[in-house]
Amino acid sequence: GQRTPDIFLYQGFWCQPKEIQAIISIQKHYTAEGTDLILATIPKSGTTWLKALSFAIVNRKQFYHSQKDHPLLTSNPHELVPFLEYKLFADNQIPDMSSFPRPRLLATHMPLGAMPDSVRNSRCKLVYLVRNPFDTFVSIYHFIDKIRPKALGPFSLEEAFDMYCRGVIGFGPYWEHMLGYWLESLRNPHKVLFLKYEEMKENTSFELKKMAEFLGYPFSREEEEDGVVEGIAKMCSFEHLKDLEVNKMGKGAIVNFENKHLFRKGGVGDWVNHLTPLMVERLTNIMEQKLACSGLSFKLLL
Ligand code: PPS
Repeated sequence: GQRTPDIFLYQGFWCQPKEIQAIISIQKHYTAEGTDLILATIPKSGTTWLKALSFAIVNRKQFYHSQKDHPLLTSNPHELVPFLEYKLFADNQIPDMSSFPRPRLLATHMPLGAMPDSVRNSRCKLVYLVRNPFDTFVSIYHFIDKIRPKALGPFSLEEAFDMYCRGVIGFGPYWEHMLGYWLESLRNPHKVLFLKYEEMKENTSFELKKMAEFLGYPFSREEEEDGVVEGIAKMCSFEHLKDLEVNKMGKGAIVNFENKHLFRKGGVGDWVNHLTPLMVERLTNIMEQKLACSGLSFKLLL
């Protein structure tokens, strides 16, 4: 049954009334074009990072990564790559996207199955970033704890974890979210690129090159020799972004919370400091059961 008042099961996934409203509008009014590049994630799985990297890749002819006025130095990545549901189609707006520069770089937390038909029927491309469910949970937990009204009192880790395991998180169940994109990436690798947060952490340059090629912006030999790949990786790193003024002091890049809450630890394995052995066992069992035979697995520690 449903325990929290502000999250609802809609079209098979959990979300809040404002999100539902936006999704209905996206399904009705957003028409994907062949050149659209859509970044898809579940909340707290590395969206901010994926947006920064994609923006830097696609716009690198216009903005060289070491340029003093690179947009990523003065804007939060969410301002450069808008969410369909929190920005473009939020608050009953229907944006005029016809004047946007092409390719349109867009982002969403929506499950693949909830996207309008034009996403499947056009040649637009999707990049999905997944993060191991343990760290994703810990990140969600801290984030909600930070931004929810103080009047509600402290947020219990146990209750949050129980909800998470029952699939009750924004745009979840997480396993269904990731499986939707994973299976499509296997069926249609030119349509969906499936990336893993842990692999991006481990070998950012390699994953960056894969991304650039998929997006249609492959690095040239000269660029590789000039260190452009490493330069972009460094510019978009957690350590660099979190100390920028816009990300330390700014507000409202997604909705009305401080941008600094988008940068906490930015690593792999913090779950060991939060989850009891019983919790680990419960979530391990769920993931094994839900992902059985899919071929999808995670590194939990680096
Ligand atoms: S949101 O609100 O869904 O867009 O949030 P999202 O960006 O998906 O998730 C926030 C977590 O991502 C970490 N983060 C990063 N990791 C690596 N590199 C970079 N550049 C980066 N930027 C943000 C952020 O710290 C959150 O994870 P935790 O584990 O809470 O630190």
